[in-house]
Amino acid sequence: MKSEFVTSATKKSEWPNTDLPEIVVVGRSNVGKSSFINALVGRKKLAYVGNTPGKTRLINFFAIDDSWMLVDVPGYGYAKMSKSMLIKMGEMMEEYFYEREQLKGVVSLVDARHEPTNDDLDMVQSLKEAHIPIIVVATKIDKVPKTKRIRALKTISQSLQIPMKNIYAVSSTEKIGFEEVIVKIKEVLES
Ligand code: GTP
Ligand code: MG
Repeated sequence: MKSEFVTSATKKSEWPNTDLPEIVVVGRSNVGKSSFINALVGRKKLAYVGNTPGKTRLINFFAIDDSWMLVDVPGYGYAKMSKSMLIKMGEMMEEYFYEREQLKGVVSLVDARHEPTNDDLDMVQSLKEAHIPIIVVATKIDKVPKTKRIRALKTISQSLQIPMKNIYAVSSTEKIGFEEVIVKIKEVLES
């Protein structure tokens, strides 16, 4: 898959001026959004990955195959960030979700090891209310023993009230689960 960094933005005037359809990747800080993007497109350092939460601070746009955009955004639920920073990032995200006309779907990442948090539930709820298609992806599945993986996905499905067929599992470190997610993203892009 061809991928290239287009631009970073903090506000509407900085969004790229294209009409390519967009898929945005959301999730708690440190859940693995940037790693997911890198593994999905098969690049090591397209999106910036960090060991401490709160690494991605801007909205980053990546053009894929010159035909659609993958969008990396800051994570939610990072308590250690200053209040003013949290407010600023919240406003930046809200503007994007409400006003980006070519936003076609959201990949909502949750940690495969844990039950979804209240922030995860709030995020999925707002997306449902906005009628934006949601693909749920459980990250870091390599950290869950093989015999416990189905159970973990069922827990996520029940908690988020999303059918099992719309829940995927990936490991960005082991590069597993991405082909299925790509098929689903393409389906959403074409719908
Ligand atoms: P913010 O930008 O801070 O919101 O974080 P993020 O959601 O973009 O997470 P990021 O991709 O930066 O990854 C956070 C940490 O989790 C890094 O140390 C990654 O190496 C690790 N990580 C990400 N995906 C996986 C995975 O599938 N398996 C394992 N074992 N570790 C992962
Ligand atoms: Mg990130």
